[in-house]
Amino acid sequence: MFSKRNFRPLLAFLLIGAAGIDSVAQAQTQPQAPDTIEARVRACMACHGKHGEGTENDYFPRLAGKPTEYLFNQLQNFRDGRRKYPPMNYLVTYLSDDYLHEIAEYFSKQRPPYPPPTKPTVSAETLARGRGIVLNGDAGKNIPACAACHGKELTGMEPAIPGLVGLHQDYMSAQLGAWRAGGRHAKAPDCMHEISLRLSDDDVSAVAAWLATQPAPQNPVPAPARSMKTPLACGSEPQ
Ligand code: HEC
Ligand code: HEC
Repeated sequence: MFSKRNFRPLLAFLLIGAAGIDSVAQAQTQPQAPDTIEARVRACMACHGKHGEGTENDYFPRLAGKPTEYLFNQLQNFRDGRRKYPPMNYLVTYLSDDYLHEIAEYFSKQRPPYPPPTKPTVSAETLARGRGIVLNGDAGKNIPACAACHGKELTGMEPAIPGLVGLHQDYMSAQLGAWRAGGRHAKAPDCMHEISLRLSDDDVSAVAAWLATQPAPQNPVPAPARSMKTPLACGSEPQ
C-alpha cells in the first residue's frame, strides 16, 4: 500500500528528528530543524493525519485522544515485534521508551474533530447483531460486552484501553482478525486475544460495522481509571 519509494523520505525525516542536526556544516547550508515534539511527529502525519485524526485510508488509524499508556504500549509492541506492520516496525526500531512515551503523550492530548460516522453498508440485522454484542455481549458464547471495558460511550478507559469511535470498519476487522490469528499481541493476559477467539467472522463484521456508524459523544475523553471493573483481566491494565 505504501511503496518503499514514498516511505524513505519519511524515515529520513524521523531519523533526523531523532538524532537532531548537530553538524555545524549542515546547519550552515540548511535551515536548522528544531528538535521539538512537533518536528518529531511530522513523520507520522502522512498516515495518521496532521493531528493524529487518521486519514481516509481504511487501515491508518486515528491516534488522537487515545489514552497515553495505550499508545505507549502500541509503540512498544511495534518496536518489540508484538504487532507487525513493516513501516511502523521500522520507524520505531531504534527509539527509546522515553522518546516513545513522549510521542504517546503528544497524540493522547490532541483533540481534532472526529470524522462523520460511516453510512451503514450492511443489513439492519447485522447492525443489530453488532450493537447487541458491543452493548450487551452474548452470554451464550461467553462474549462480554465490549462496552464493559471500552466504556458505554466507547471512548475507552484510562490508562490503557482505547476508544472505539472514529476508527474505520476495515481497520477494526483487521485488528480483531490479527488477534485471532496471532499477528497482534498485547501484554499477557491478552484479554483481546481471548475475546477475539469467541467471535465468529460474522460477529467481527457485525461489531466493526456497527461501531463505524457511531458518532463520537460530545465529550470524547476516556473514562477515568478504574471506573469500570473489566470482566476479564487485561495485562495492559494495572490490576
Ligand atoms: C506508512 C504509514 C504510517 C506511518 C508513516 C506511521 N504509521 Fe503508525 N500506523 C500505520 C498503520 C497502517 C497502523 C496499523 C497497523 C496494524 O495493522 O496494526 C499504525 C498503527 C499505529 C499505532 C497504533 C494505533 C492503535 O490505535 O492501536 C500507533 C500508536 C502509531 N501507529 C503511531 C505512529 C507514530 C508515532 C508514527 C510516527 C513516528 C507513525 N505511527 C507513522 C501507518 C503508519
Ligand atoms: C476485558 C476488557 C475488554 C473487553 C470486554 C473488550 N476489550 Fe477490546 N481492548 C481491551 C484492551 C485492554 C485493549 C488494548 C490492548 C492492547 O494493549 O493492545 C483493547 C483493544 C481493542 C481494539 C484495538 C483498537 C485499536 O485502536 O487498535 C479493538 C478494535 C477492540 N479492543 C475491540 C473490542 C471489541 C469489538 C470488543 C467486544 C467484542 C472488545 N474489544 C471487548 C479490552 C477489552
